[in-house]
Amino acid sequence: MAVAPSTAPTTRQVQIAPSILSADFAKLAVEIESVVAAGADLLHLDVMDGHFVPNITFGPPLVASIRKATRATLDCHLMISDPVKYVGAFCDAGADWVSVHAEVEGDVRRALEIVRSMGKVPGIVLNPDTPLDRARPHLDHASFVLIMSVYPGFGGQSFIPAVLDKIRALRREGYSGPIEIDGGINAETAPLAIAAGADVLVAGSAVFGKPDRAAAIKALRGRA
Ligand code: DX5
Ligand code: ZN
Repeated sequence: MAVAPSTAPTTRQVQIAPSILSADFAKLAVEIESVVAAGADLLHLDVMDGHFVPNITFGPPLVASIRKATRATLDCHLMISDPVKYVGAFCDAGADWVSVHAEVEGDVRRALEIVRSMGKVPGIVLNPDTPLDRARPHLDHASFVLIMSVYPGFGGQSFIPAVLDKIRALRREGYSGPIEIDGGINAETAPLAIAAGADVLVAGSAVFGKPDRAAAIKALRGRA
């Protein structure tokens, strides 16, 4: 079989990961089913501990419940100060992708290794002001990079275009793994992220805030 030539950023397959942060938690199973039926590729789960970020969401028990409710790939974004202590519980709960912030004080490499050793997909996350150099020591231990395009903690914030430079730099250097972007992604900002080289787009309000989720997801792929 012929090997496909290396693809330019704009021809990469784009995956859409709706963030349940903007869903109605009282009817979560219905909300999840609606975005999966609408063509979501992954389900983005924002875990916040009230310490690494000034907000609190949920922990492994909710991830385990979601795991029972859907076969979708669960993309667990851990905005927590002590990932080494908790990554195992999220993997056990059924997370598939588990990403850890480079800014935490704990042993980031160890957290990524635990995720990998449990057969899951580890990712390294950078906040908007964190330089790419902070991710470099972890690239060998992570299977994808998540670039924050808002300051983490809340949905519905405005996209920070300056973070696209980090995505362009990674692609220029030949980084070929998935690059996920998270925060302020909508039909206007998605094309900028894709052109820079992002191929996994997280979107909370731009999907769950719209009554027609299929149209919202199509618009993010640039197929409105
Ligand atoms: C922010 C979260 C994001 C958030 C994105 O800390 O990591 O995943 O839900 O929400 P929108 O798409 O509304 O900016
Ligand atoms: Zn997130």
